[in-house]
Amino acid sequence: MDAATPTALVFGATGNVGHGAALGLLGQGLRVLAPTRSEAGAEQLRSTFAGRELHPVIGDVSDPEAALRLRDQIQRDYGPLDHVFVSLGPWWQGGSVSGQPPAEWTRVRSMLLDGHVHAAALWLPQLAHRPESSYTVVTGMGALDPIPGTSLLFIATNGVLALSRVLRQEHREGPLRVNELRISCRVEKVAREGVVTSAQLGQAAAAIAASKARGRVIEYRSPDTFALP
Ligand SMILES: NC(=O)c1ccc[n+]([C@@H]2O[C@H](COP(=O)([O-])OP(=O)(O)OC[C@H]3O[C@@H](n4cnc5c(N)ncnc54)[C@H](OP(=O)(O)O)[C@@H]3O)[C@@H](O)[C@H]2O)c1
Repeated sequence: MDAATPTALVFGATGNVGHGAALGLLGQGLRVLAPTRSEAGAEQLRSTFAGRELHPVIGDVSDPEAALRLRDQIQRDYGPLDHVFVSLGPWWQGGSVSGQPPAEWTRVRSMLLDGHVHAAALWLPQLAHRPESSYTVVTGMGALDPIPGTSLLFIATNGVLALSRVLRQEHREGPLRVNELRISCRVEKVAREGVVTSAQLGQAAAAIAASKARGRVIEYRSPDTFALP
């Protein structure tokens, strides 16, 4: 694959949603770079995507210093990007705010919000002048209605909703299209009753990258009802 091959950076490719995005973007002929925090994650990606143009990169976007190193390494080793898809988890339901040790808020914020802010700050300047480029922020219904016990997740993911709004406003014009993919169904890698598979969701992720959609909150409820605005 040569350097001119369109390239997507997918955060969260070891997880349910990012896995689907990686599948969808590979299916469009893109090269996919997939950061993961651990060697175990990289090994999982190598084995799941064996023979495909998916390249694991070890790094932690939720940590400020590690995020900078990740950005520099990706720039040096792979050159310019065309699409960035940011899906960071996992779910948290550790109880009410009251009684949480302060370090728990730091941990939850770091894994659910900080990575999104670092990714935007570090990769948007590169994408901003790239023709036909896209940046997609993944959110979920957990940020809209506080489910009992999800207190810190609700607070952190509302930060992601705010970030999405700011980024969509900041990039109203120019070649880069920023959108939010707001998922309101259960997505898992393996098919089972009542669940949307990662592969199905990935079709939507790929369609957004290839579309003209800009500055939108794109709702995803099911494969049957998904439509780009
Ligand atoms: N799955 C669903 O049903 C669903 C529905 C609606 C919305 N969403 C949204 O989609 C996003 C991802 O959900 P998911 O189900 O794909 O999550 P997941 O399966 O738990 O995967 C989480 C991903 O986040 C990555 N990650 C990066 N930094 C992290 C950190 N500091 N701590 C923990 N994980 C970190 C993990 O990568 P490594 O471990 O490889 O580093 C992993 O790939 C979330 O924002 C969620 O709200 C999911």
